[in-house]
Amino acid sequence: MEITNNIKYIGVYDEDIRIFEGQYPVSKGISYNSYLIKDKFNALLDTCDERVIDKWLKNLEDELGSDNLDYIIVSHLEPDHSAGLKEVATKYKNAKIYMTLKASQMLDLFLDIDLKNRIVTVKEGDSLNLGEHNLKFIMAPMIHWPEVMFSYEETSKTLFSADAFGRFGDINELTPYEDEAVRYYTNIVGKYGNQVKNILTKASTLEISRICPLHGPILNNNLSYYINLYLKLASYESLKPGVLVAYASMHGKTKEAALYLKDLLDKENIENKIINLVEDDLSYGVGYAFTYLNIIILSPTYDGDIFSYTKDFLNRLKAKNVLGKKISLIENGAWAPISNKLISDFINNNLKNITINETLTIKVGMTQTNKEEFKTLVSSLK
Ligand code: FEO
Repeated sequence: MEITNNIKYIGVYDEDIRIFEGQYPVSKGISYNSYLIKDKFNALLDTCDERVIDKWLKNLEDELGSDNLDYIIVSHLEPDHSAGLKEVATKYKNAKIYMTLKASQMLDLFLDIDLKNRIVTVKEGDSLNLGEHNLKFIMAPMIHWPEVMFSYEETSKTLFSADAFGRFGDINELTPYEDEAVRYYTNIVGKYGNQVKNILTKASTLEISRICPLHGPILNNNLSYYINLYLKLASYESLKPGVLVAYASMHGKTKEAALYLKDLLDKENIENKIINLVEDDLSYGVGYAFTYLNIIILSPTYDGDIFSYTKDFLNRLKAKNVLGKKISLIENGAWAPISNKLISDFINNNLKNITINETLTIKVGMTQTNKEEFKTLVSSLK
């Protein structure tokens, strides 16, 4: 696939994978993007996951034909992008391999091939001239590993952005971007907002015509939308004023309350998402928690403690550095409900800049009073 006359997409869309990175469900798979710049000297940018090496290598061979491969650029060593490095370095023995110093120090951990004599380490601002194209290297530590770098191709104004601006799913730019890009970003890079902001600040000095990430679509249009989306996420700014309803339910009564709340939110035209903390993957909850300003947590008390699935969710919010939210709590318990106090304590001790908006109690099933309280709660979220 052509990105420009001389920049080719040679990545592979892995439709069959169902769990990415050993943890994230990807119902529509994920792509491992890889690019070839054809010029006086030919340069490959990144390889692929071991699941697709044969297909990827064929894509590379088809585009290169009988030409040489002169350079291999390693933006990121994580195995979903470096598993093909051994094969390509073995096949194209004269290709020099460009990477950060940190990547060169980590390389042996991932590949059982000695490439030391072929490695060129680069630092911020170094460049590599290919003829008409000129690559400038931009250090991008902790997006989302320490050895990462971006490359900016000056002639075509193309930013090769490693994992940044990636998305789960296919590479079609027309597939809705935001939900799966936000779930991807917040779960994988969410903790590193400050580092992301630093890179975006550096990138803001560049004139960018397209962004080529290592996953998902190549972004050709409306780049300010994507950059602003990333800036907001990196700043831990809620994207929308809506509500995430996150519930756990043992015998169905807390679920009934959650659905009742969702119905009230819908009737008030307040955008919302609902997740079952036991049945739904928490990565969705993290994505929605970054997206919406308000979170309502409904949870049973269990063993005099926070219900364990609710605790998992809270720990995930802490791990991904979710902050700046308005959280309402609804506990359920027949004889000694204590979730609200324990969850409030957790939030106050572990999450930053959170307002506890409302704390309500259900004793098994909703009463008429509870329903009135819920209406008042929903009104407060308009
Ligand atoms: Fe897509 Fe951090 O690897």
